[in-house]
Amino acid sequence: MLHNILLTTSRGIEDLARREAEMLFRVRGIKVNVEEKPFGVEGRLLVEVEESFYIDEKGRKREFNSATFLNENSRLLHRVIVEIASRKFEKIEEDEKDKALKRIYDFVSQIPVERYLKLSESFAVRSFRKGEHNLTSLDISKTVGRAIYDRLSKYGTPKVNLDHPNVIFRAELINEVFFLGIDTTGDSSLHKRPWRVYDHPAHLKASIANAMIELAEIDGNASVIDPMCGSGTILIELALKGHEGRILGIEKYMKHLKGARMNALAAGVLDKIEFIHGDATKLAQYVDSVDFAISNLPYGLKIGRKSLIPKLYMDFFSELAKVLGRRGVFLTTEKRAIEKAFKENGFKILHHRLIGHGGLMVHLYVVE
Ligand SMILES: C[S@@+](CC[C@H](N)C(=O)[O-])C[C@H]1O[C@@H](n2cnc3c(N)ncnc32)[C@H](O)[C@@H]1O
Repeated sequence: MLHNILLTTSRGIEDLARREAEMLFRVRGIKVNVEEKPFGVEGRLLVEVEESFYIDEKGRKREFNSATFLNENSRLLHRVIVEIASRKFEKIEEDEKDKALKRIYDFVSQIPVERYLKLSESFAVRSFRKGEHNLTSLDISKTVGRAIYDRLSKYGTPKVNLDHPNVIFRAELINEVFFLGIDTTGDSSLHKRPWRVYDHPAHLKASIANAMIELAEIDGNASVIDPMCGSGTILIELALKGHEGRILGIEKYMKHLKGARMNALAAGVLDKIEFIHGDATKLAQYVDSVDFAISNLPYGLKIGRKSLIPKLYMDFFSELAKVLGRRGVFLTTEKRAIEKAFKENGFKILHHRLIGHGGLMVHLYVVE
């Protein structure tokens, strides 16, 4: 038997998430079919996976739980949602609120949700909405919750628990596409890593850090630096992947550097990373050469005056040109400033893409 799993990730890295999912299942010998952006929805993947079994330590045949497997092993995903039903509602964006909600209620009412939880288990509905609708995500949660409640009432008294439910139904309305599933990830998205004890105000999502690592195509014992490492996300994720080569981080502000060390300690990789308190515009003072540089650069207002950015980038890339052996992967909103700094310092753009991060689309570059 086949079942469908909806995966969520950042917009712009669906291809990498697909590759990761295919690789994870291939290693287990399980056949999957992964579709990127089902119904054209960005940041989503639909996995069709065949039922498979394994023999446990007591010799019993058990069903292999693909959703748990992905939750435990993926570095690029945000959520793993087992699909119950999905459909496209033509023109729902034009509907009046009550009409749109009635269509959703009617659709959910005919889904056999009773198969997905025991009556003794409590449930909640979490929803996600994107598009030009006349309704809010709260409207969707309430309507879907009522449809599920009404249906379950035929079998007994359903239990709702909005704070600590046993089962989380996930309802998504993205433009005209409606999706209902069981959110196996829980309330904390997978990109929120348990090691994050220090919360940098501009920290990078761990999923995007891993996408940058993938795109760098780092080999074996290569050395890797994040010259503006903030709370250390990229370096910690790299160390957790088991990278064998030297891993270095530079950060200008002691507060963030201490935070990065605390995070690395919590992740169990502090001994794998060399953290340096320093200035990336004087990079050559700290390292003679490095194979790869991966960094989420300061941008926007977060470092103070935005007008400082072009000079910071120019100074940094002129230093980087002195020490970088292989490739660099950088993330920024400042397209013009970074492309000027690349050009004037002899870097060639090998790859460019846009990635959704914190409501913005940011530019990712791979250069050499
Ligand atoms: C966007 S944040 C990086 C966040 C990081 N990726 C994380 O997940 O925590 C950019 C960092 O660059 C640091 N920075 C700014 N100018 C710097 C410089 N000249 N040298 C080193 N670090 C610098 C900032 O203090 C900030 O922590």
